[in-house]
Amino acid sequence: MRTLVITGGTSGIGRGLAHHYLERGEQVVVVGSDPERGAAMEAAGARFVQADLSLAGATLDLARRLRDDLPVVDALVLGAFRFQPARRETAEGVEFTFALYVMSRFLLAEELRPVLEAAPDPVVVNLCGTGLGKGPLDEPARYRGFDAVRRGAYANDLLAVAFHADHPTSRIRYVLHNPGFVDTGMADTLPQPRKALTRLAARLLARPVAKALPPIVRKIDVPELAEARRLTRALAP
Ligand SMILES: NC(=O)c1ccc[n+]([C@@H]2O[C@H](COP(=O)([O-])OP(=O)(O)OC[C@H]3O[C@@H](n4cnc5c(N)ncnc54)[C@H](OP(=O)(O)O)[C@@H]3O)[C@@H](O)[C@H]2O)c1
Repeated sequence: MRTLVITGGTSGIGRGLAHHYLERGEQVVVVGSDPERGAAMEAAGARFVQADLSLAGATLDLARRLRDDLPVVDALVLGAFRFQPARRETAEGVEFTFALYVMSRFLLAEELRPVLEAAPDPVVVNLCGTGLGKGPLDEPARYRGFDAVRRGAYANDLLAVAFHADHPTSRIRYVLHNPGFVDTGMADTLPQPRKALTRLAARLLARPVAKALPPIVRKIDVPELAEARRLTRALAP
């Protein structure tokens, strides 16, 4: 049985992945900030750990608890996200989108390395967007929600590159995955009428969560399948 830790595992793509792996008998630990959503995932067989990942202190505390409880983590899926239409800072004084989308992902991947290294084929899957347009990473004078997301996506690209550069001998695969437009609760934080319009666009244009899962599952599972194929070939007469 493998152990997967899925941040944002209480909704949307993360929840879909959690159900996928629960149905296959794996141990799934989901992380979110809403206890009601967490209780629903516990009812489905997952373990729920509550944490506000926009805070570095809470993220480090979560990582310590996970390290204490789980000797081995096979896959860490980084999916926690919340769109912020207006600029706000966390109680630690960090711009929210950067804090949740970039800082917590950096901290979790680094802090969970010891338990990931203990797995036979460890993987970190960072569910991110596209940093298209590039431009500076520094925060501009005027906050725009979608620009904060773009800068966050670009920073996540760099996190993946830096992870392999910083840990050249690590067996952990750090994989970026942009799921494209998927019909989830993503629009929930938008003000009206953008919320209604985005929901409508999602219903009409976005993929359902079920269709977004197979490429992510492949990124988590394929090396295992490759090993199974290798063994099958080795054992074949
Ligand atoms: N949907 C798309 O079209 C799309 C496109 C490109 C990229 N992506 C990426 O795919 C990932 C998943 O997106 P989604 O649309 O499936 O998301 P979603 O349905 O909006 O779910 C977001 C998840 O993040 C958790 N979360 C939010 N704030 C948190 C906080 N402060 N602390 C801990 N957890 C928090 C939520 O749990 P709680 O409510 O319990 O806090 C929820 O489980 C995201 O990283 C997103 O960037 C999605």
